[in-house]
Amino acid sequence: MSLLIKNGRIITATDAYVADLLVEGETIRAIGKDLSFPADETIDATGLLVFPGGIDPHVHLDMPFMGTFSSDTHETGTRAALHGGTTTVIDFVLQKQGHSLKDALADWNSRAEGTAVGDYSFHMAVTDFNENTRAEIQQMIENEGITSFKTFMAYKGALMIDDRQMVALMQEVKKQGGMVTVHATNGDVIDYLVAKHRAEGKLAPLYHYLSQPEMTEAEASGRFADMADYTGCPAYIVHLTCEGALNAVRNATRRNQKLFVETCIQYLILDASLYEKDFEGAKWVMSPPLREKKDQTTLWAGINQGLVQVVATDHCPFMWEQKLMGKDDFSKIPNGHPAIENRMELLYSEGVHTGKITENKYIEVACTNPAKIFGLFPKKGTIAVGSDADLVLFDPTEKHTISAQTHHMHVDYSAYEGWEITGKVKTVLLRGKVVIDNGNCLVEKGYGQFIKRNKVSGTI
Ligand code: URP
Ligand code: ZN
Ligand code: ZN
Repeated sequence: MSLLIKNGRIITATDAYVADLLVEGETIRAIGKDLSFPADETIDATGLLVFPGGIDPHVHLDMPFMGTFSSDTHETGTRAALHGGTTTVIDFVLQKQGHSLKDALADWNSRAEGTAVGDYSFHMAVTDFNENTRAEIQQMIENEGITSFKTFMAYKGALMIDDRQMVALMQEVKKQGGMVTVHATNGDVIDYLVAKHRAEGKLAPLYHYLSQPEMTEAEASGRFADMADYTGCPAYIVHLTCEGALNAVRNATRRNQKLFVETCIQYLILDASLYEKDFEGAKWVMSPPLREKKDQTTLWAGINQGLVQVVATDHCPFMWEQKLMGKDDFSKIPNGHPAIENRMELLYSEGVHTGKITENKYIEVACTNPAKIFGLFPKKGTIAVGSDADLVLFDPTEKHTISAQTHHMHVDYSAYEGWEITGKVKTVLLRGKVVIDNGNCLVEKGYGQFIKRNKVSGTI
């Protein structure tokens, strides 16, 4: 099967030009002006942008968390991602404390295999690093193609590891050719503030925010950077939100350290004033919480300074009924918000359309850098001969409104309800097949493939 895409404006992390693109089977076969190959099908992309498929390296699908499960399955979540122009996601497998990585992977495979609609990979979250786990790191990297290991410096008693385990894990992961990623907030200080607020009867969602001040993230980010520098392990901070934390990273660069940083779309465009809406603020209860306007300014600047390499979502949706678990106590509100479908369009509208970032930077942070950092490049994350034909045809001028009435995520509210945005995904190809066309998904569950990833070096 071959497909010719004519006259689109192709955007990569480095280039922008009008050309034709020939897709043969699952990959890109040729790129050029006025290509005259015979093809089974032709799409006229005049007036449209042609991007690489988006890569969201931070999503939580069907994840057991805080006494419930995130509401998108691998089927609904990856389908919604495709609607929004994201063709590959990296989900998190969570080791259960006292159990093996292998068991955790089997558990996640049993839910994802045969159900995903879009392509996916896994990070392995190490919540209990011991001598048994140490031996499994190599197996994950060499046999399973899982080359990144997530750690939590918060959520004590459930997911958090201590610094002793962190350093030991880093040493092993470095040795085997992987990367350690981190949720960098100071779990002990947060637990103290949560307990204090509860004891004082301060139970509204606002106190979720007030229990995780900027200092908790700045401190943990600096500590993590120090441990990564000491061990030399490739390292990545997930969902960085604020000026203090980015300054810790900036400081690390002064000793010539390279540390990757991800922020998420919500931290660029939403702020903590949403927590003043009484219980409705639960829609945005996530960890770390939304921050201040000054932090948004820092994050946009950080992207342009090259200190922030990735914009993800930390998609972790819960139905309103699930959020109500915390209606009398903010500490029981399941943490997380839905965005897997909205990231590409929101980042285009709020970033490129407003002039905050260039269209090349947009592709860099949403597609190419996630692929490079996590060992998917050049199969994924760019438009090049031989790469997977994961492509988005995008109308940069079409205006539309985000709503839970029209989104495809399995969640009954939108964190961006009523937002009017500019730029719309029209057609999406995944491995050479048109999977989304004008709002319709043309493939069934099971089309999505697990993608084994390459070893990583900590440089891109
Ligand atoms: O609130 C969040 N972020 N929920 C998902 C788990 C995590 O910390 O990433
Ligand atoms: Zn986190
Ligand atoms: Zn997360």
